Amino acid sequence: MSTSPRQLFVTTALPYANAGFHIGHIMEYIQADIWVRFQRMQGHEVHFVCADDAHGAPIMIAADKAGVTPQEFVAGIAAGRKRPLDGFHIGFDNWHSTDGAENHELSKEIYRRLRDDAKLITTKTIEQFFDPVKNMFLADRYIKGECPKCGAKDQYGDSCEVCGAVYAPTELKNPYSALSGATPVMKSSEHYFFKLSDPKCREFLRQWALAGNRLQPEVANKAKEWLEGDNGLGDWDISRDAPYFGIEIPDAPGKYFYVWLDAPIGYLASLKNYFNKTGRDYDAFMADPTTEQYHFIGKDITYFHTLFWPAMLHFAGMKVPNNVYVHGFITVNNGEKMSKSRGTGISPLRYLDIGMNPEWLRYYIAAKLSAKVEDIDFNPDDFMARVNSDLVGKYINIASRSAGFIAKRFDGKVTSDWATDADPFLASLRGAAAEIRTLYDQREYGKALRAIMEQADHVNAYVDANKPWELAKDPTKDAALQEVCSRLLEAFRILTIYLKPVMPALAAQVEALLNLPPMQWADIGVPLPHHHRINAYQHLMTRVDPKMLDALFEPPAEAAPAAAIEAAADSATIEELAPEIKIEDFAKIDLRIAKIVNCEHVDGSDKLLRLTLDVGEGRLRNVFSGIKSSYQPEELVGKLTVMVANLAPRKMKFGISEGMVLAASAADEKADPGIYVLNPWPGAKPGMRVR
Ligand code: 2FM
Ligand code: ZN
Repeated sequence: MSTSPRQLFVTTALPYANAGFHIGHIMEYIQADIWVRFQRMQGHEVHFVCADDAHGAPIMIAADKAGVTPQEFVAGIAAGRKRPLDGFHIGFDNWHSTDGAENHELSKEIYRRLRDDAKLITTKTIEQFFDPVKNMFLADRYIKGECPKCGAKDQYGDSCEVCGAVYAPTELKNPYSALSGATPVMKSSEHYFFKLSDPKCREFLRQWALAGNRLQPEVANKAKEWLEGDNGLGDWDISRDAPYFGIEIPDAPGKYFYVWLDAPIGYLASLKNYFNKTGRDYDAFMADPTTEQYHFIGKDITYFHTLFWPAMLHFAGMKVPNNVYVHGFITVNNGEKMSKSRGTGISPLRYLDIGMNPEWLRYYIAAKLSAKVEDIDFNPDDFMARVNSDLVGKYINIASRSAGFIAKRFDGKVTSDWATDADPFLASLRGAAAEIRTLYDQREYGKALRAIMEQADHVNAYVDANKPWELAKDPTKDAALQEVCSRLLEAFRILTIYLKPVMPALAAQVEALLNLPPMQWADIGVPLPHHHRINAYQHLMTRVDPKMLDALFEPPAEAAPAAAIEAAADSATIEELAPEIKIEDFAKIDLRIAKIVNCEHVDGSDKLLRLTLDVGEGRLRNVFSGIKSSYQPEELVGKLTVMVANLAPRKMKFGISEGMVLAASAADEKADPGIYVLNPWPGAKPGMRVR
């Protein structure tokens, strides 16, 4: 491993801007974040960025359904990113969007180079289903009809969920558009293609993907299949017709880049945006041959990252990735497919909301990860055992057995005059550093943590052999007590450095306890000085309470068992109607369409969300609403709702509430605990009166 400082550019895959993060995103971010923190601890310079993958038909359609522009829609999603990222200590240097100006520019520039310099762009006319009502071409997933094999109704354009048949959308019987219900017509259109079939592409990719053991073996095998298979590489269709939310293709009015063309360019765009903000020279950094570029991705998007992406970059005359690190999926409870309604999924925000320690999850995920493309499983019992027995029982135990005595009995002072370079206890602990370092660097986190816990076992054996609590009972053994506890704290310090990439917040607490500046890897060899004074011991980490795991897996309120909801409907117990009013009475209530511009949690409240509403008045209103049990803030941002706009402002514990948002709820909360915020049909605009 090189020891001179390296210059690294690291990314994770860019999540689609159509939903909050799921546990799979968080796992990937944790994997990359550990690697980045580890590299920084070696003294390397690392730039770690991500962005929202904003473009494409699904996002355009979702925005349309929500009655907002795609830009507003993705801004709403972006507003919800910070809390989970901060919550799990994921330290991206920058979060940008593929709809940002940098990405528009870079994508066009790369395209021009591929077209004009590399001569790798061609056009072909293709026939595709077209929705005559929505006036748009339909991707396969938006065409439905009867399965050509078994006749099952309402099957998608590519395969039948009933009999498993795979077919082309043109084979469906009675096809219809899933967007409008209209019968689609065949229409031809000119598409732009990246000529991957050109022999020079294959030659380059063979060299990039297959030579020199660059890729993980499983990934290299896949790449080999794709590159050497009978059909070789086909040309890649990189254009979509308007209407499309994306980047317009230069010199091709009405044509847009397919989302997968501009998505990876978003890696570069986010770095460029970050460098522009911080005054760094992006062009110089990327032109520097020593700059290394790494992408962490999931196995499902290997094709894009090991074929299209390096080829695009290479033939545009740009730096190609040094590597693409592929991971598997995360499953819950022995690979049971995650399903919200069955309550087997893990919501990252729920995890944080119920007060579970984010570093438990970081530790657990790290303990499961290897450099292989393997799925990992979240098993609640295993989670509890690893956190409680390894982390708390072995590692935290070392500090709780020693720091208190040093603080109380020795005025916080440790000794180290007993230490020699040959001290076998500490020498063996420090001796593990090289192996642990290699394992982190190779992303073998599970093995690294096993090696660290083995060291923690040795230290605990020393605790048991020397029993500081016994020494403390005998006043004549003060010197021995101080030495034993000092030795233990030095061991704890080294173990903390080993664990710091995985548990940065805990490491910061330990640094505060030990009264030390942030520790780097090289500090393994720099012991606590003789008579160094530490701070008072405060508890560092609690054990997992099984009740928390029950709460984590409880189905969320919106997925209350269907049977309970049906039962409520059967018994027809609706709330009694309020006394009759006149139309004049109703007219007194000024109901307006309001846009939820922002939404956030309210510190200290388990019921309220704070909404920032735009009612078209040229100012924004602050409204507290008791809907926290049913919504995550990011689900609401960008949406329209209805509010009582002339309600007298109300002073609440958390601030002034300037109105009330309308929401429905069942009379019998037990039958259906959901709260349903009103959402107008598309077309309504902020400020319109509801009458
Ligand atoms: O599969 C996905 O979720 C894509 N949004 C990943 C894009 S990664 C990169 F290319 F931007
Ligand atoms: Zn079928």
